[in-house]
Amino acid sequence: MSSTVDVLSTTTPSQDRSRFSFQQPWFEATRPDWEELTRSLRGQQLRVLEVGAFEGASTTWILDNLLIHPKSTMTVIDTFAGGMEHQGDVNDTYGLTSLKSRFWSNVSQCKHVSKLNVMEMTSDEALITLRKEGARFDFVYIDASHVALDVLHDAVLCWRMLDMGGTLVFDDFAWKGYNEDCYNPRVAILSFLLCAAPELQAKETELQLWVTKVPNHISATKNPDPAILYWDKPEGFKLPVVPVKIS
Ligand SMILES: C[S@@+](CC[C@H](N)C(=O)[O-])C[C@H]1O[C@@H](n2cnc3c(N)ncnc32)[C@H](O)[C@@H]1O
Repeated sequence: MSSTVDVLSTTTPSQDRSRFSFQQPWFEATRPDWEELTRSLRGQQLRVLEVGAFEGASTTWILDNLLIHPKSTMTVIDTFAGGMEHQGDVNDTYGLTSLKSRFWSNVSQCKHVSKLNVMEMTSDEALITLRKEGARFDFVYIDASHVALDVLHDAVLCWRMLDMGGTLVFDDFAWKGYNEDCYNPRVAILSFLLCAAPELQAKETELQLWVTKVPNHISATKNPDPAILYWDKPEGFKLPVVPVKIS
């Protein structure tokens, strides 16, 4: 039976964040988008996966707002060692030494913490394990390593485990922490979008990219002309990599 409080708690985002202690404001910048874009998900039975949790800012918001249904579950993957951009931090600006304890102290404040399964390992290891176990998800948040190849790997494995109609959120679509594309998420997210285009719809917010899995809407049409079965090399074309030296 649903009481007024239940109805309110499933439709109104939980604004009380004062019981948590966060050193970084990252999630706060995107919280208004989350409140708006997850409105239809609140109160539903959801299997949530978060790849990269840090001190639990996004985790606690998800626990409070998307884990309300008694059968909802959440899996979090994190090494709690920080990403490449957090290394070499002599002043411990990111508080890596206490990261794991801050995460646990924050998530412990959440009513639905018992629905949380934490995998303390790299996303590589964890996602392969989950896929082997046949895990399925309705909502996935990717915000772990920002190195493009890692983001692409996370994206493909998560996509394979996302159910039809599910949502996949990429953080830092707009982030440019490094001059080289290969160390930023953007090039990986754009490549993923091109490859998964037949089954997705996407919405860009100021900093993130929200993707919904939909039934295939781009069917494959065979190239009818055998004369144009291979790509033409445009004049002056060069591979965008250092060429192999053949001695
Ligand atoms: C940007 S933070 C996540 C922030 C969090 N989602 C939030 O909104 O507050 C990235 C996290 O990913 C973790 N991480 C980085 N590379 C990883 C990898 N390859 N596998 C698992 N976790 C990783 C780091 O330890 C860090 O806690």
